[in-house]
Amino acid sequence: MVDLRSDTVTRPTPAMREAMAYAEVGDDVFGDDPTVLRLEARAAEMFGHEAALFAPSGTMANQIALQLHVPAGGELLAGGDAHVVTYELGAAAALGGISTRTWPSAGAELDVEQIAAMIRPLGYPSVPTRAIAVEQTHNLGGGTVVPLSVLRDLRGLSDRTGVGLHCDGARIWHAAVADGVSLADYGSLFDTLSVCLSKGLGAPVGSLIIGSRDKMTQARVIRKRLGGGMRQVGILAAAGLHALEHHIDRLADDHARARRLAEALAPHGVVDPAAVRTNIVLLDLSKSTLDAPALTALAAEQGVLISPMLPSIARVITHLDIDDAGLDRTIDVLSGLLRSA
Ligand SMILES: Cc1ncc(COP(=O)(O)O)c(C=O)c1O
Repeated sequence: MVDLRSDTVTRPTPAMREAMAYAEVGDDVFGDDPTVLRLEARAAEMFGHEAALFAPSGTMANQIALQLHVPAGGELLAGGDAHVVTYELGAAAALGGISTRTWPSAGAELDVEQIAAMIRPLGYPSVPTRAIAVEQTHNLGGGTVVPLSVLRDLRGLSDRTGVGLHCDGARIWHAAVADGVSLADYGSLFDTLSVCLSKGLGAPVGSLIIGSRDKMTQARVIRKRLGGGMRQVGILAAAGLHALEHHIDRLADDHARARRLAEALAPHGVVDPAAVRTNIVLLDLSKSTLDAPALTALAAEQGVLISPMLPSIARVITHLDIDDAGLDRTIDVLSGLLRSA
């Protein structure tokens, strides 16, 4: 099987497993796990912030950050197809009492003036806007990257209005590699970031919330309340440290493979290679006789796994466990199916 459903399907490498096996551990709820502390310090340093907190998942990291910014009854602004809106199962409302208002999403294309016009001030009787969340890279947008200049404008908006700025940076590593922007530059533009070690970087589990020391002290309380306090979790933090050390620069290989796939499938009219910026390729099947579930099922019969994201959009993701031979096989299978569609 060649599994391109997500970059979360990677398995830890032998070197990562070895780092995990020999990790020094302690009870992290007591703040005693030296490997977790090292991971948190390293992540904070990479993004130029004071502190970081290890969390079991990207969803929990996002939700902790949103609760840091938005008290119950307050409002979050986000894109309509942001992960925090679409795939976190209503957690902001269900767990944080947070009201969400969305701008019409076009992936990573943000209109800062439109967002500015949506902000509602503190005070009776309207719902006060307390945070804006931006996704980098944008998953449903096809791994697209919000340009640094746009993020700088958003930072200015946040400074002028006092509305918090959070980055769902599950795949921010990809943006850094694709645009040649440092993680510290991204870090300087956000009050909080959530980043994932388990998407493309090859760690089996783990995300981090990054921000000020004060915010991370509060984040620790929210994490425990959500059931995310973990004990000898240095075993997982060791995988994360290994991922940060060894698996960021190589993301350029995943981007090159994604582009090669897009170029090979472009003649079938399902993808514009210029739109592929990182490791996600969206196939637009609206003009094909195959819809996304049908293409997915037929490809699976030939050992290639992809995701039907929407009825007419299939998603293909390259990652650490996809090599050139796997990509060649994928191109053969998908080209064959699209040719006969
Ligand atoms: C952009 C984005 N944010 C957050 C998450 C949530 O991560 P997790 O699945 O670890 O909860 C994902 C998961 O795919 C994602 O794509």
